[in-house]
Amino acid sequence: ASTLGAAAAQSGRYFGTAISAGKLGDSAYTTIAGREFTMVTPENEMKIDATEPQQGRFNFTAGDQVYNWAVQHGMQVRGHTLAWHSQQPGWMQSLSGSALRQAMINHINGVMAHYKGKLAYWDVVNEAFADGGSGGRRDSNLQRTGNDWIEVAFRTARAADPNVKLCYNDYNIEDWSAAKTQGVYTMVKDFKSRGVPIDCVGFQSHFNSGDPYKSNFRTTLQNFAALGVDVAITELDIQGASATTYANVTNDCLAVSRCVGFTVWGVRDSDSWRSGDTPLLFDGNGNKKPAYTSVLGALNAG
Ligand code: G3I
Repeated sequence: ASTLGAAAAQSGRYFGTAISAGKLGDSAYTTIAGREFTMVTPENEMKIDATEPQQGRFNFTAGDQVYNWAVQHGMQVRGHTLAWHSQQPGWMQSLSGSALRQAMINHINGVMAHYKGKLAYWDVVNEAFADGGSGGRRDSNLQRTGNDWIEVAFRTARAADPNVKLCYNDYNIEDWSAAKTQGVYTMVKDFKSRGVPIDCVGFQSHFNSGDPYKSNFRTTLQNFAALGVDVAITELDIQGASATTYANVTNDCLAVSRCVGFTVWGVRDSDSWRSGDTPLLFDGNGNKKPAYTSVLGALNAG
């Protein structure tokens, strides 16, 4: 196959990208995205500050722009994200306790009602675990509402739309030996044992010199999948875009039957949240980089 999406589809997987509503008027951008990808994650447009800028007043204008573009191009959409410590609107940042807990529940219900039946996945909870060696939860206003906030979010989400797959999504959980990875693994294991509704775990996969790719990523994917959840690579970018590392990540997912697909976090290097790292598959002029050829080759060989 000659595109990432078609090559991934040979094994029943998708290949996605983050899309920004503000770039949908850039034809160089939409030409590449429309040709190569089969899944879209709105880069910012379905986040809490975008969808509920004032409490109880929902705004889906930008989210719908990305959603409609994806559907018009035959792509599926991954919702991102319903409960997160970051990109909260000011009104939410100032809430705490039961008021914040109820606002989180109302937010999940409001956003999921709008997109009910339309999305393939939702990142229900994003980045809830702490960096470093503790393996514990990240401190946040949501965490301070009580340790059960994550399971409440998932139970609320299942009731709001029983047909969308519900994911936990985080970064620096690719290294099986990391305390953060073990903390998330223990939570997912506990959720599965108690019937808390969780369908998938997203591994963001933002690799850089400080947090490099390690070959035990495949072990991590296998061990989470063995808990009975789908796994996915959800925000892939690699500082310097080593063709070898991109191929390794591709092959790690291909080796795990429950690894359902790939998403790179942007189209061209110039679209990246860390463009100085040139971490993506297309350069700023839209040319395919060696990493592109490497990923396509791995998908076609797998
Ligand atoms: O749109 C406003 C613009 O109106 C304003 O003038 C400008 C001034 O700062 O800000 C613009 O918003 C920025 C937005 O991106 C759109 O470009 C925000 O400041 C900026 O913070 C925001 O950054 C996003 C970041 O999440 C915020 O946390 C990045 O685009 C986005 O790629 C990044 O994505 C995250 C995932 O959601 C979660 N995992 C990590 C990943 C990378 O940080």
